[in-house]
Amino acid sequence: MLALLLVLLAQRETQSFDRNWRFHLGDVAGAQQPAFADSGWRKLDLPHDWSIEGPFSEQHPAGVAGGALPGGIGWYRKTFSLPAGDTAKVVFVEFDGVYRNSEVWINGRYLGKRPYGYSSFRYELTPHLRYGKRLNVIAVRVDNSQQPNSRWYSGSGIYRHVRLIKAGSIHVDHWGTYVTTPAVVAESSQVTIRTTVRNEGRAARPIALQTTVYDSAGKAVGAVSAEATVPADSVVEIAQQLTIPRPVLWSLERPYRYHAVSRVMCGNTRCDTYGTPFGVRSFAFRADSGFYLNGKPVKIRGVCLHHDLGALGAAVNTRAMERQLEIMRAMGANALRTSHNPPAPELLDLTDRLGFIVMDEAFDMWKKEKTKYDYHLDWDAWHVRDLSDMVRRDRNHPSVFIWSIGNEVMEQWQDGDSTAAPIARELAGIVRALDPTRPITLGANNGSPANPVFHAGALDLLGHNYHHGVWKDFPAQYPGAKFIITEAMSALNSRGVYDQPSDSVAVYYTPYEKDRGPQPPKNGRIASYDSRHAFWGSLHEESLRLFEQYPFLSGMFIWQGIDYLGEPTPYEWPARSSYFGVVDLAGFPKDPFYLYQSVWTPPERPMLHLFPHWNWAAGDTIDVWAYTNAEQVELYLNGAFQGVRRKESKVSHVMWRVAFQPGTLRAVARTSGLETTSAVVRTAGAPARIALAPDRARIRADGEDLSFVTVTVRDRRGRSVPTAEPLIRFRISGGARIVGVDNGDQFSHTSFQAKQVRLFNGKAVVIVRAGRSPGTVTLTAEGGGLAPATARIAIK
Ligand code: GAL
Repeated sequence: MLALLLVLLAQRETQSFDRNWRFHLGDVAGAQQPAFADSGWRKLDLPHDWSIEGPFSEQHPAGVAGGALPGGIGWYRKTFSLPAGDTAKVVFVEFDGVYRNSEVWINGRYLGKRPYGYSSFRYELTPHLRYGKRLNVIAVRVDNSQQPNSRWYSGSGIYRHVRLIKAGSIHVDHWGTYVTTPAVVAESSQVTIRTTVRNEGRAARPIALQTTVYDSAGKAVGAVSAEATVPADSVVEIAQQLTIPRPVLWSLERPYRYHAVSRVMCGNTRCDTYGTPFGVRSFAFRADSGFYLNGKPVKIRGVCLHHDLGALGAAVNTRAMERQLEIMRAMGANALRTSHNPPAPELLDLTDRLGFIVMDEAFDMWKKEKTKYDYHLDWDAWHVRDLSDMVRRDRNHPSVFIWSIGNEVMEQWQDGDSTAAPIARELAGIVRALDPTRPITLGANNGSPANPVFHAGALDLLGHNYHHGVWKDFPAQYPGAKFIITEAMSALNSRGVYDQPSDSVAVYYTPYEKDRGPQPPKNGRIASYDSRHAFWGSLHEESLRLFEQYPFLSGMFIWQGIDYLGEPTPYEWPARSSYFGVVDLAGFPKDPFYLYQSVWTPPERPMLHLFPHWNWAAGDTIDVWAYTNAEQVELYLNGAFQGVRRKESKVSHVMWRVAFQPGTLRAVARTSGLETTSAVVRTAGAPARIALAPDRARIRADGEDLSFVTVTVRDRRGRSVPTAEPLIRFRISGGARIVGVDNGDQFSHTSFQAKQVRLFNGKAVVIVRAGRSPGTVTLTAEGGGLAPATARIAIK
C-alpha cells in the first residue's frame, strides 16, 4: 500500500491550466492579492487575445502596423485547489507565451516578470501553495500598453496555452532532454540522449535513468540505463547512447517520429517519466548545390508566416494553424520561417507531423530599436535567456533545420558599426553551445557585400532578404559560402481584383515616399494579377524564376504565405492588414498561389488555373491569364479559338487579350501535344441564393476544434457569383459557437467577432468552434434578399 502510494506520488502529471480564468481589461490595484474580489470579472478560457476583441481605430497607438487594434493592460486570475495528497510534489506553472511584460503572483507572492511576448517560461509554485480545502489564486498582469512595440499585429494577453506540472522532487528538468542522431545510415542510427535530472530534495539521491526508444507503433527499438547520484538541490546531465537498427527516416513525404521515454528510478520506485518525440534524419547544406535531406537534394520552398490566425487573432488554436499549413502545402511549399519570433510549441508539433522544414527565428531587433517600445529596451537584460530558452525548447523537433538569430537588425546598416559583428558572434555562440547540429542564419536586407554581419564569422548560412538582382553575384562575392534567401517578393495583391490592362507593372513607394511613383487605388483593392510590388521587392514571377534557376540557393521564403494583421503597405489607415500574402487573411488563395503551384507541382499531377472571372460589361477588353505545369495552353471563348500560348519559361504565366462576351471561357493545357487538363470559367447570372461549404463537416467535441465555412452566393444555375458583395448574417444552434468572420478585405472595419460579414469579391468565411458535447450544429446564413442557406456540422 505504501509502495503504491509512493509510486502515485512520484508520477508526473501534466494538466491543462487553460480553463476557468477571470479577466479584467485595465490595471487594478491589489489584483495580485488572493482575497481580491474578482467575481465581477469576465470568465474565460485561455488562450485569449484581448486585442482582437477591440474596435479598429486610427487612434490606437499600435498604429496600422499593429492592425489598428488596441493594446493596454489586462489582468487574469484563476482560483484552484490541490488535493492534500499533493504536498510531497513539486508544482510548476508553464506558460507557452504571454504578450507581453507578464508578471505572475501565486497567493500574493511575486514569481517574476517576462518581457518578451514570444518566450515560453515556467515558475515553481511549490513553496507558496495551499492544499485540501484552502484555495490558491494565481494572478497574471499583462502589460502591452507601451506602443508601438511591434511592426506587425502582436495580440495581447495569455495568447498561448498554460499547463500545471506536478512531479516528484527528483525529476527531469524543464526541457530536460536533448536528443541528437550523430550518425545516420540505412543500417542504423546512433542516438545520443542527454538528460538533465533535477533533485529538489535536501539529500543527494542515487538514481538510475532508464531510457527507451519506441517506434511510432509503440514498439521498443532500443533501451539504455545509467546510474548517477544527483546532489541535493542541483542537477546532473547524463549522456546515453543507443542504436536504432534500420531506422525509418524523418522526411517530408513520411515525417516519421520516434519517442524517447526517460524513466528516473529511485531504487525500485519510479520517480519520474518524461517523453520526447524526435526524428532520425541527416541533412547538409552545400555551397554549390544547396540543401540535402537524407542524402537527396531538396529545394527549400518556404513561406514566412507571422503568428496571427486572421480573424481569430493571436490566440493559439491548433486546427487554425494546421489549416494554414494545409493551404501552404497545397501551394507546394515545404518550409516555414517563423517570422520573426519563436512560435507556439503546437506549430512545431504540426510541422514535425506534417513534414515541413522550419527556420526558427529569435528576434526582429537586437539592441537598436525598430519601434519605440520594442524589445531593444529588454535586450541587455534578457537576450541571453530568451535565445537560450528558444533553442532548449525547440531543439528536439525534427522539422527545425535552421536557427535564425534575427531579422533585418539595424546593426547591419553601419558598415563601421562595432556592435553588429560582436553581437552576431555572441548570439551564434549561445546557439552553438546548446545545439551545434543546425546551421545559424540571419535575415539581412543590407545587400552590400560589406554588411558587417556577413563578415562576423558567426553565420553558417548567409541569409539574404530581397535584392534579387544581386543573387547571381553571391558565389563570386563570398567564395565557399552557403546561401539562403530568408525573404523575397513583397508583391502586393487583393483577392479577386483584376484591373485592366494586366501587363503594366506598378512599383509602390508609398507610404514611405509619399509622392514617388504610382499611387495605389483609393478603394484599397490591388490587382491580383502578378503586377504590383513594394519597391524593395519584386513580382512573384521575378524572384521565383531566379530562385529556381540558381542551384547554390538552398531555399527561399516568400513574404508572405498568408496575409496577416498589420503592416498594410502601401496604405495607411483605413487599411489594417497586409497585401503581401499569396493567400488572403480569410484563407482564400489569390491568383499568384497558382503560379507557385504551377512551378512546384510535378507534371504527373497536371494543373491549370484560368482567371479572371467572366462577369464583365459589354465592350470590355479583358486580359485572361493561365498558370499551368503543362507546356502550352489554348483558349476558347464560347467555342471560338483565341490562340495558343506557350510558357516562356518554367516560371511564367500565359496571357490572351480578349474582347469580352458573356458565356464560357475554356482553356486546354497540353504537353507534347497531349491534353493534360482543362479549365472552365463561366459568366454567372444574378445572385439568387447563399451557399455554405464547411471545410470539415465533422469536428471533435473538444471545445477547440474548428470548421471553416466558406460563404458564397450562387445564381439560379448554381454558379458562384464572383462580384457579389451582400451582407450576410449568421445564426447557429446546437453545441458550437461562431468565433470569427472574415472576407479578406484589408479595408474592412467590421469586427472579426461580428455575427455578420459582407462578401468580398464573392467570398467570406465564418469560423465555427466546437463545444464539448457531441451533437449536430446548424449554421444558418441569410441576407441580401437571397434565399438563405444552412449547413450542418457534426460535433463528435
Ligand atoms: C521586410 C521585413 C518584414 C516585412 C516585409 C514587408 O523587410 O523583414 O518583416 O516588414 O519587409 O515587405
